[in-house]
Amino acid sequence: MKFFVDTADIDAIAELNATGMVDGVTTNPSLILKSGRDILEVTKEICALVKGPVSAEVVSLEADDMIAEGRKLARIAPNIAVKVPLTWAGLKTCKTLTDEGHMVNVTLCFSANQALLAAKAGATFISPFVGRLDDINLDGMDLIGDIRTIYDNFGFETQILVASVRSVNHVTQSALIGADVVTAPPAVLKKLADHPLTDAGLAAFMADWAKTGQKIL
Ligand code: E4P
Repeated sequence: MKFFVDTADIDAIAELNATGMVDGVTTNPSLILKSGRDILEVTKEICALVKGPVSAEVVSLEADDMIAEGRKLARIAPNIAVKVPLTWAGLKTCKTLTDEGHMVNVTLCFSANQALLAAKAGATFISPFVGRLDDINLDGMDLIGDIRTIYDNFGFETQILVASVRSVNHVTQSALIGADVVTAPPAVLKKLADHPLTDAGLAAFMADWAKTGQKIL
């Protein structure tokens, strides 16, 4: 399963990228706002830093304008995945841009039928938002399971990119279901390495090592 980082914070991306765990990056208008950066400039920097797909989102609502924005974003770098919303205009944009050879990430997916439409439009990635479904007392992970079944039933190659990830349990469940990608905020990705028994075991080893009086270096 691939890990994407869900942020436009270049320092946070660089820090995680150095661990070899970053297979791609996702951004959205809210994350661009949070970064305080110009979308074209920061996206270009991210694309230079990370080899894998970098999602940059269109902001128009009409297909013709979305297509023009998507083409402009795609010119930033070869690893851009143009992110479009799951609307009919977004699906039309997805079909046009994938036919031109661009990667497209269809975002704001909240139902299995929406995911089916995105696959039929040739999407490279579908982004179901699990955390926002959990927020309204639905189970976001149920949707991931349903999409996995539907895509496997028909052999769709669209990659399931689990988004709106809020916890390490979302990551575990995504891996168990067989999602292709999880995009998570840096804080959630960092927590994947945490375990209290690792901390306790390391503290005990360090205490015993100090008593030996030895050094390796
Ligand atoms: C990523 O592609 C999404 O835009 C992002 O995961 C949304 O997360 P949020 O629901 O925490 O804003």
